[in-house]
Amino acid sequence: MLFSRRPLAAALHLAPLSPPLLLLFASASSSCSPAAAASASGSRDFDGCFQGISWLHSFPEQSLWISSGCTAVRMDSGAVETASTGAVWSTPSAEPRSISVGKEVFCNRSLNMRNITAVGFDMDYTLAQYKPETFEALAYYGTIEKLVKDLRYPEELLTWEFDWKYMVRGLVLDKKRGNILKMDRHKYVKVAYHGFKELSKEEKVAAYGSTLIRDSFDEPDYALIDTLFSLGEAYLFAQLVDFMDKNPGKVPAGTDYPLMYRDVRSAVDLCHRDGTLKRMVAKDPARYINEDLAIVPMLEMIRKSGRSTFLVTNSLWDYTDVVMNYLCGPYTSDVGSGLNHKWLQYFDIVITGSSKPSFFHDDNRAGLFEVEPDSGKLLNADIQASKFIGSPRSSHQHSTPVQKVYQGGNVGHLHRLLSVASSSQILYVGDHIYGDILRSKKVLGWRTMLVIPELEQEVKLLSESKSTRKELRHLRMKRDSIEDRIHHLEWSLKLDDVTENQKEKLFSEHDNLLKQREHVRRLHQEAQRQHHQKFHKVWGQLMKTGYQNSRFAHQVERFACLYSSQVTNFGLYSPNKYYRPSEDYMPHEFDVLGL
Ligand SMILES: *[C@@H]1O[C@H](CO)[C@@H](O)[C@H](O)[C@H]1NC(C)=O
Ligand SMILES: *[C@@H]1O[C@H](CO)[C@@H](O)[C@H](O)[C@H]1NC(C)=O
Repeated sequence: MLFSRRPLAAALHLAPLSPPLLLLFASASSSCSPAAAASASGSRDFDGCFQGISWLHSFPEQSLWISSGCTAVRMDSGAVETASTGAVWSTPSAEPRSISVGKEVFCNRSLNMRNITAVGFDMDYTLAQYKPETFEALAYYGTIEKLVKDLRYPEELLTWEFDWKYMVRGLVLDKKRGNILKMDRHKYVKVAYHGFKELSKEEKVAAYGSTLIRDSFDEPDYALIDTLFSLGEAYLFAQLVDFMDKNPGKVPAGTDYPLMYRDVRSAVDLCHRDGTLKRMVAKDPARYINEDLAIVPMLEMIRKSGRSTFLVTNSLWDYTDVVMNYLCGPYTSDVGSGLNHKWLQYFDIVITGSSKPSFFHDDNRAGLFEVEPDSGKLLNADIQASKFIGSPRSSHQHSTPVQKVYQGGNVGHLHRLLSVASSSQILYVGDHIYGDILRSKKVLGWRTMLVIPELEQEVKLLSESKSTRKELRHLRMKRDSIEDRIHHLEWSLKLDDVTENQKEKLFSEHDNLLKQREHVRRLHQEAQRQHHQKFHKVWGQLMKTGYQNSRFAHQVERFACLYSSQVTNFGLYSPNKYYRPSEDYMPHEFDVLGL
């Protein structure tokens, strides 16, 4: 290596103007992990349990980038790629800044960063991006083992393989029917599979055609695949449906689809509770978590801009320490020092074992404990509001930062520790719509940024699909104009003064047009199918179903002020940026402006 793993950016940003380092690790009663179980969330128990763990589908393809010193140049566009090398907005640079396709921060609701005084992060699947091909696979195979050993499923399951690319977020499992569905924002089922077999149009209409059913699609009969963590169990469910259909005698007696789903869920939980996953990750974090050299420079930039940073994770201290030490490692570790807790210097407040989403509930009375970082021992924190109010960070500016690690507690504790005047001064970055984003936004008025790793690939493909989209629009217009001619002919045929001779001519033209319409309809359908398959061979574009926004896209829109493919994309923008949403469009504007 020509240069050390400690990039230039880090060297330039050492010597932080250290605000008081209040390190808060809260953890709650429950113990599922790595995202230690947000199990107090009622019907969302399971989602919450693994809410940290969820996305990551599209990694930047390494082959696309050529490393050149401190930046990497993207071959196809020549744009300067920054995040992968640790450069952030404030990194001195001779060239004009540009942010490559797929790394933008998109704005849905205007957000002036000058209003924000504290920026918080989730850990699992936000700061720590797990590699699905290793991490999800580990969980998948562990789950199968539990199914076989503890729940009496046949041994042949042990030979099954995991296709981690097959499932996508935003799908809905129909537990009763053994189906997997993709729907649009109006909850119309657009794509449906039974196990791995696609439903015909007729089957689809028979099962989901009625408006009554369309209103529900929620627990307990349905399961929402909203975290990247649940992709593995969705895949296993589809495999089991397939397996049971073909071998009804081989599954434990009395098993039906909903029971199978429950078994998968409890096997996944077992797998997490017994600590296997955590131990494996701790042994070799690089195998399971993507390195992101921009995390530390981003955190430093935020702190230098005068804002606090905090971490709220459901993972407990020991696991949090392992993961954060790995992520910040290139900037903090002396050779051979192991877990030195130095990563704590990048956060003002750290809370572990937070039991989100119940952490955000107003009526949450979870106690707050201090964690002694070296021993992991819990001490009674005895945090009083008075202890923190009126002691703003500035008064600590030059004192040695006190590193405190907390576990448990609730959002009220966090607010006191941060000394924020209003919850709207907090920007929280997470990966999970229901747990982190919805609760923290609706209940508290926190501003939110959603991390959607799939977005990077989606945006790249979208930018390459301009000509296809043009062609699709052209085909639609052609179909419309043929339809209009057909209607006109039919109108003429009804008129009294048409002679038999003319009628015959009109009929044959009519036939001809019907054929043309069918031809164009098929062309259009096929072009659209191909367009969607470029995004995903089974489920198509994540954010769309046909021409409609997908259910997933709709949720993103409802819950996120900002969204982006990776947490460190946030570091590519000024910490004082005023994020403004794009303009609204009405149907007439699309036509007139040719959008
Ligand atoms: C900034 O804060 C002010 C006062 O709280 C608020 O009125 C305004 O809407 C905020 N602006 C943005 C863009 O967040
Ligand atoms: C995102 O924009 C849509 C459309 O303007 C709006 O209805 C929604 O409330 C916005 N989301 C948030 C989180 O503000």
